[in-house]
Amino acid sequence: MSSIKVVAEREYSVHLDANWRKSVEAIAESHNKTLLMVPAELVEQFQVLALAKANLRIVEIPTGEAAKSPDYLLKMWEVCGDYGLTRSDCIIGIGGGSATDLAGFVAASWLRGITWHAIPTSLAGMVDAAIGGKTGINSSHGKNLIGAFHSPSSVVIDKEFLESLSERDFNAGMAEVIKSGFIADSKILELALDAKANIAELIARSIAVKASVVSSDFKEGRLREILNYGHTLGHAIEKIEEYKLRHGEAVAIGLVFAAELSNIAGGLSAMAVEQHRELLRKFELPTTYRPDALPKLLELMAGDKKSRGTALRFIGLEDIAKPIWLEAVTSDQIAEAYGRISS
Ligand SMILES: NC(=O)c1ccc[n+]([C@@H]2O[C@H](COP(=O)([O-])OP(=O)(O)OC[C@H]3O[C@@H](n4cnc5c(N)ncnc54)[C@H](O)[C@@H]3O)[C@@H](O)[C@H]2O)c1
Repeated sequence: MSSIKVVAEREYSVHLDANWRKSVEAIAESHNKTLLMVPAELVEQFQVLALAKANLRIVEIPTGEAAKSPDYLLKMWEVCGDYGLTRSDCIIGIGGGSATDLAGFVAASWLRGITWHAIPTSLAGMVDAAIGGKTGINSSHGKNLIGAFHSPSSVVIDKEFLESLSERDFNAGMAEVIKSGFIADSKILELALDAKANIAELIARSIAVKASVVSSDFKEGRLREILNYGHTLGHAIEKIEEYKLRHGEAVAIGLVFAAELSNIAGGLSAMAVEQHRELLRKFELPTTYRPDALPKLLELMAGDKKSRGTALRFIGLEDIAKPIWLEAVTSDQIAEAYGRISS
């Protein structure tokens, strides 16, 4: 079984080609008590309850963003207390990014931090959310505003999960895969042309991109910001859409915008911009947004937690796999780039 190392506050492995059931059993065997959190929607489908035993308690959590609420976090702390989880026990989060974000944050906050393991079941979770140690929940003021850097002790990738993933969620995950290709690994862009056939290599390469960036800059000093390519506008669109779009769908629009802005302010070729559109459309991902939304988007982007001071900053590309920081874009340049993606 191959694996990829991540060096953060501790070193851990992302196990590719793993068997998730065997991994759960092995983790449970090495702890006195293990609390496994999994969205109710996946429990029956993957017969998760069959794994329960005296030292492995399974708790069903809501699907999607509903799991990432302060109310739900309080419930999980109660569950930890009732089960008597100590510092030497552990938590496993199985599910999409919302489940691993919650499980990771419960682990980060319970007893000031206990061990946890991530078992992502969505493509977005495998290539993005479960890698990199960011954990968190949403506040009434915005998404992911409450959180902690708290790396898992291992990430278990089992592609069995992808078989039941909806086409929509697979495609949304491909937006992050494609982003990894554009910022760091152009081979991904070739492999994405036949994504289903090349999925194992696409997952491994995307994880390698994120692992390498996170290992150099765990707490987002600067380099880690390149992972936000396409996300500044993407996050603002998610907010306007009240999170009804998948994260990857909003990011897809943001990627085309960031590419156009890179063409205007960073020297990216028009051909490379077109390559963004073509690849994303292949996965039926949106690449345009409403013309009248720019003022609201600007307001939301200015309030994005990744912005610094008052100036809007974007990650751009000067070429494929050559990210740059666009720190001094003018409002005219933003309006021009937006004009090219709005319809
Ligand atoms: N921590 C990070 O670094 C990071 C990075 C990116 C995104 N995120 C977070 O991740 C979340 C998005 O993740 P997501 O796209 O996985 O969404 P999600 O967790 O909401 O899952 C999407 C849907 O897919 C279903 N699903 C998941 N796996 C399945 C499977 N194998 N078979 C059938 N259905 C399955 C889920 O139950 C849900 O209905 C957001 O909350 C986002 O903020 C975190």
